[in-house]
Amino acid sequence: MKNYQSNNYIAGKWEPKGTGEFQVILDKYQGTEIGKIPQASEEQMEAAIVAANEAFEITKKWSAGKRAEMMQKLYDKLKERKDEFINIIINEGGKPRSYATNEVDRSLTTLRLAVEEATRFGGEVVPMDWGAGEGKTAFTKRFPIGVIACITPFNFPLNLVMHKVAPALATGCTTIIKPAPQAPMSCLAFAALMEEVGYPAGAINVLVCDIPVAEKLVKDERVAKLSFTGSDKVGWYLKSICGKKKVTLELGGNASVIVDEDVNVESITDLVAKGAYLYAGQICISTQRIFVHAKVFDRFQSAFIASIQKLKVGDAQDNEVLVGPVIDKGHLNRINDWVQEAKQKGAQVILGGAVLSEQHNLYEPTLITNSNSSMKVAAEEVFGPVAVLEKANSFEEAIKMTNDSKYGLQVGVFTNSLKNFKYATEELEVGGVIMNNIPGFRIDHMPYGGVKDSGLGREGIKYAMEEMTEGRLIVY
Ligand code: SIN
Repeated sequence: MKNYQSNNYIAGKWEPKGTGEFQVILDKYQGTEIGKIPQASEEQMEAAIVAANEAFEITKKWSAGKRAEMMQKLYDKLKERKDEFINIIINEGGKPRSYATNEVDRSLTTLRLAVEEATRFGGEVVPMDWGAGEGKTAFTKRFPIGVIACITPFNFPLNLVMHKVAPALATGCTTIIKPAPQAPMSCLAFAALMEEVGYPAGAINVLVCDIPVAEKLVKDERVAKLSFTGSDKVGWYLKSICGKKKVTLELGGNASVIVDEDVNVESITDLVAKGAYLYAGQICISTQRIFVHAKVFDRFQSAFIASIQKLKVGDAQDNEVLVGPVIDKGHLNRINDWVQEAKQKGAQVILGGAVLSEQHNLYEPTLITNSNSSMKVAAEEVFGPVAVLEKANSFEEAIKMTNDSKYGLQVGVFTNSLKNFKYATEELEVGGVIMNNIPGFRIDHMPYGGVKDSGLGREGIKYAMEEMTEGRLIVY
């Protein structure tokens, strides 16, 4: 696996050349160069589209058994190379070692789920033996739709690629991936495994490219679906230009935790702190807003501060570190600007509130209160180690405060009242409600996705497979 630091992978070939421009990949803590990938040209994107369609003519004919067998080989290879992938993720993503290890384990799970799902995925029987349908039998059989354009973010450079590639492989679709420019090497290294296993040329194409080349992919009618994970602004824009293709959008959020009056708050603050600051908050379902019932607010606040202070901040290579660097200087400065804006508008910074290291892109774990929806730290997605903590006068008020957002991905509701939890499930405007846990809770077969500005459609292997296939009705 030596090509992934300096090539794109197009139509079964490693391509060291592109437009003449390069994307330099930095180690996110040290700031040193670890890779240099060419920006792919429009001609190269055209070649990828042609190759992916040609490969689809092969993979669409594979039996479910063959698809599962090929993915099992891929699983075995990934397991063999686990340490190499962990190191790529730590370096290019700035992801703390324990969490990078968790990402590779999860990627293996995602792939294994796809192996299993390939052989049990099917259509449905349509009861028809009545009225004009009397005597007929009907069912739907699912067929792969073709080439999937995948645009993936930096924060899970392997597992969020897997959430698109694995269901595609399980159904017989092929992929063209535009990985995040800051962290494309995990994806390229994964393409190398597919090559080793013997997938046909064009089954996966990985192209680091700039916006016009990416837009060519998104607009092209030979591409059947766009599967995008990233910011809401870009995601909704791409939907507006992608024509008639299917679309899945996994977008941002400002997920909240709700803490009810009957909760033993001291027992949950370590978990909530991890949910807010792990990987410097660069997770779509990171806890950004915390609404605590007034009756337990003071106790929660002091226990929470102690929990935050226990988190180790620093070098992603260190096994004890949970809060590593943010992805680049631009984000470091933006996060700081948003915190300063909140302060100027009257918010109180309880903890942190400043850059910890310019050199290593570290920001202090920051806790803010007295925020309101005019402040970006409350209204937008921070994607940094910043959370707001606010008092709610009742459980119902905490639900209203949560819904007062353009986003709706997942919520963590801490309560011992089944009645209140049921109320929360009915009233919250989100894709998932998690009881007595943080919104960051995710197991890879769960239906995962948001409502409102947070997205469209669901991932989680079986759900993504549904979106990558069409059910054809068969009547006889
Ligand atoms: C995301 O940040 O979009 C995914 C979170 C996860 O898979 O845990």
